[in-house]
Amino acid sequence: MGSAVGLGNIWRFPYLAGSNGGGAFLIPYLVGIAVCGLPLLMFEYAAGRHYRLGVMGAFKAMSRRYEVVGLAIAAMVFFILSYYLVVAGWTLGYLIATPIGKEAGFSAFTATWWPVACFVVTAVVCCGVVMLGVTKGIERTSRALLPLLAVVIVLMAGYGMTLEGRGEALSFLFKPDLSALGDPLVWARGFSQAFFSLGVGMGVMITYGSYMARESAIARSSVIVASGDVSVALLAGLAIFPLVFTFGGPPGAGPQLAFETLPQVFSHMPGGMLVGSAFYLLLFVAALTSAVSMLQVVAATISDRTGWSTSRATRWLVLPLLGLGLLSALSYAPADLRFFGQPVLDLMDTTFGTFGLLVGALVTCIAIFWLADGLAMKEQVGHGAPRRFVAWSGFLLGRYVAPITLLASLATLAASLIVLGELRGR
Ligand code: PHE
Repeated sequence: MGSAVGLGNIWRFPYLAGSNGGGAFLIPYLVGIAVCGLPLLMFEYAAGRHYRLGVMGAFKAMSRRYEVVGLAIAAMVFFILSYYLVVAGWTLGYLIATPIGKEAGFSAFTATWWPVACFVVTAVVCCGVVMLGVTKGIERTSRALLPLLAVVIVLMAGYGMTLEGRGEALSFLFKPDLSALGDPLVWARGFSQAFFSLGVGMGVMITYGSYMARESAIARSSVIVASGDVSVALLAGLAIFPLVFTFGGPPGAGPQLAFETLPQVFSHMPGGMLVGSAFYLLLFVAALTSAVSMLQVVAATISDRTGWSTSRATRWLVLPLLGLGLLSALSYAPADLRFFGQPVLDLMDTTFGTFGLLVGALVTCIAIFWLADGLAMKEQVGHGAPRRFVAWSGFLLGRYVAPITLLASLATLAASLIVLGELRGR
């Protein structure tokens, strides 16, 4: 849950829903979770627990030639992590600025070196948690922080429901304008958001599955994780849109929604400092527990390969991570670092966070549903779950529906990037 619930739910989901037809976006997103995301999640856990290895080791065990694919996934996660930590750093910056009443417009924020400093602090904290190990670091951090996150988001959504704009917000979120569904890009974005939000296709759940106890029921855990993940996204919508509709600001502001529109809302509303601080705390906690899971994948890959402890592997990763992340951090700081006219961070998000993730999910599907030992996978998931459910999700959805959907999403996104040049930021 710590890995799944992240910036994807609280920052990415509301802005994507806001700029892709509100309620209409929910349909492809939920279909994507149920039809492709959940089966993949279950079988990633299964593969991890069966092979007891990280993504590279597990892929190698499925087929020797696939080892390099696992390695590529781990490398991709490292790239995603590098800019994810920058955005996580922004939330830390806002968390510090909001209670001291600093006017936190996004351009004012990125005109300082604060974003860089916050990135460095966040990256170091993330490495520290992973170095402490799975039980002492990740499990304890998630156990302490996730209930806090749940309380804050429920309170914020409850507060949203007392505001004047709640009616408008509810119909924006839950009364789909079905005409938006005619746009294939809405479907592609909905599906890719489903994968991003669950955190499948990046080897994270394979790695976490490798630490899972024999007796824990995979199907049940997966259903809990997926429903928790969707609930947090919906609650984030219920917290944010009433604010937007009550205090003004366009719901379709795009990625700036959490960093430009909301701070303005917070500075105008009564008690905004408190609500704002709670919101950024929430965002930071969610981001940190997800970042930790990504770093664990990279560290586990190195440790599978070298035999080092995860902690030693992580120590070795600190400097490269800071170096790579700095490129993205500097693109939203006075240095304004750009490649091909685009801020490095945006380029990273399109390349790795959108395309990379879909490719990662596709190759993971192929590995798990075509190359791995099918019987063993089914046995792992089957423990405590209805047989038909396992057969359906594994061998109809996972084998055929998910790869076809992924290919279609990739093709749509690629076409839109090439033909319309409009993928950026959506
Ligand atoms: N699922 C996380 C989120 O919603 C992001 C993530 C992606 C985590 C890929 C791990 C792997 O923010």
